[in-house]
Amino acid sequence: MTGARETAVCIPRHVAVIMDGNGRWAKQRGRPRLFGHRAGAESLRAVLRACRDHGVEYLTVYAFSTENWVRPKDEVGGLMSLLKTFLKKDEHELHENQVRLRVTGRIEDLPRSVRTELERVMEATKAYTRWHLILALSYGGRTEIMDAVRAIARKVKTGELEPEAVDETVISRHLYLPDVPDPDLMIRTSGELRLSNFLLWELSYAEFYFTDTLWPDFREPQFAEALAEYSRRQRRFGAPS
Ligand code: IPE
Ligand code: IPE
Ligand code: MG
Repeated sequence: MTGARETAVCIPRHVAVIMDGNGRWAKQRGRPRLFGHRAGAESLRAVLRACRDHGVEYLTVYAFSTENWVRPKDEVGGLMSLLKTFLKKDEHELHENQVRLRVTGRIEDLPRSVRTELERVMEATKAYTRWHLILALSYGGRTEIMDAVRAIARKVKTGELEPEAVDETVISRHLYLPDVPDPDLMIRTSGELRLSNFLLWELSYAEFYFTDTLWPDFREPQFAEALAEYSRRQRRFGAPS
């Protein structure tokens, strides 16, 4: 029995990705950063398909952070229109594959036209339960925790919650997507070894996978390699090895 368990391929239920390196990929080719972001959108399509093929139920991608608002106007605008294009071009594929689209982050910060499109596709796909694509947009881990703390504080103030009742479960329930399981695997491309304010609470026990590959070059084979590495990890959650 033990042997069988050791050799079984273990597939993460939820993979979270920091899609980094689009700018450097474009620079290497002497092209504008947006060229890199466009190629990055192709990688997202490829990885989303690969999730279904490998049986990964939840894919969360860091598409725009609360910190990314400091980027030049042109780049922010380009990213927003790329997002709209993605929603328009890929909606049919979400339906074909029964993928539910969701957003984590401060959706109210996004330009109205992007928000409208996002809300439309989220509504149209909300009945799907098997596959989930979660876009982290205007997302910051500290902001998410701060928003949860504020919501809890309001309930304590009105007497709806006792301070002593605030435990980990209560905090989790006040995060942006309380019904989504925590990620099992976190992938970051482009050689940067940091979290950049991504899913600070949810990643507390995730396995981390870092690769030098730039996001536009990260496709199915690279994703399969990350999954293979994950299946070689031993998750202990504090138990003895
Ligand atoms: C990631 O690529 C995409 C976003 C942050 C939107 P970058 O744009 O950060 O690319 P690099 O890190 O500058 O190469
Ligand atoms: C993280 O990448 C955010 C996204 C991928 C959307 P950044 O490129 O913004 O992160 P830093 O600035 O290198 O930490
Ligand atoms: Mg970057």
